[in-house]
Amino acid sequence: MVNESQIEEVLDGLFGNMEFTAEPAGLYDPLRYMIGLGGKRVRPRLCLTVYSLFKDSFPEEILFPAAALEVFHSFTLIHDDIMDRAEMRRGQPTVCRQWNDNTAILSGDVMSIESYRMIAKAPVSVLPQVLDLFTSTAAKVCEGQQYDMDFETMDEVPMEDYMKMIGLKTAVLIACSAKLGALIAGAGTRACDYFYRFGYDLGLAFQITDDYLDTFGDPAVFGKTIGGDIINNKKTWLLTRALEKSGEMEKSGVIAPEYGKTALLEAMGMQTSTDREKAAKIARVKEIYGEIGVDEDAKYEIIKLHAKAMDYAGMIGLGKIRYEVVHRYADRLIGRTK
Ligand code: IPE
Ligand code: IPE
Ligand code: MG
Ligand code: MG
Ligand code: MG
Repeated sequence: MVNESQIEEVLDGLFGNMEFTAEPAGLYDPLRYMIGLGGKRVRPRLCLTVYSLFKDSFPEEILFPAAALEVFHSFTLIHDDIMDRAEMRRGQPTVCRQWNDNTAILSGDVMSIESYRMIAKAPVSVLPQVLDLFTSTAAKVCEGQQYDMDFETMDEVPMEDYMKMIGLKTAVLIACSAKLGALIAGAGTRACDYFYRFGYDLGLAFQITDDYLDTFGDPAVFGKTIGGDIINNKKTWLLTRALEKSGEMEKSGVIAPEYGKTALLEAMGMQTSTDREKAAKIARVKEIYGEIGVDEDAKYEIIKLHAKAMDYAGMIGLGKIRYEVVHRYADRLIGRTK
């Protein structure tokens, strides 16, 4: 088994030495910029971690597909930042700010194509399954992103719909990363399926953590502008739960009207033209969230989903040492601050 620190070295080597076509610079510079900024690389790390449970080394037939996951993910971020009007990503200006929206669209496109070149290097024996998994995952991410945008203009979204949306935009790619590692390692269908379910629930926990950090994270660590979701009226886990819970709390009289549902809906409608107005809206919504207690609720939900994911991992029959490797990966993923 390759140990976890060796996996870190492999990841550094993989993305540190990655080469892309040089010209035209306007197309490939943003791609290099994005990969060079280096995110947390949770998806390729998961793919390699699962693969390492079955194999003792990393040939190219797993390295390229693992890299494909990160290149595809980075592409979705470039387009996501246009859609979310985001200014900061990985501690630096987003591609659409550093260059412009058109550059971000086209560089994102070429990145998605690049990810297909890489995924196609999976072993021939499992290539049809790998391509099918990757392609259906990619389509689902787009579906999730569309729901995310549709929800922006809705006052309220049922929790069930929110969970479905994050399942598509985020969880499926994490599930795909885990399953890909198992599939390319030649694991059986049952193990592949359980790794998928593990990744899916962990991916849900990961997105709720992202929602939490977008409001309550440390701006110096998170790498993105805190409060962006509040400004855009994004239907995050926090807002979805707050709308649901404040209604119930108001009815039973356990919350003062200035923190109730009407107040929250009013806060969502606050002007955000200037930096001052933006800061005021973020502060007001955060204050209401705190009173309703959705920050603590989110932490509890994350722990529950993590436990569910670990239950699936427990069903694979990995044995204690290998199960612990998966456990450490999952703990690190949801314990993140950035
Ligand atoms: C951000 O993904 C988008 C979500 C799905 C929450 P990451 O948090 O993995 O971003 P990077 O790759 O580390 O920058
Ligand atoms: C992003 O969700 C999901 C995808 C990019 C597919 P978010 O919009 O919450 O991600 P961040 O917060 O910008 O990283
Ligand atoms: Mg988004
Ligand atoms: Mg975003
Ligand atoms: Mg987010």
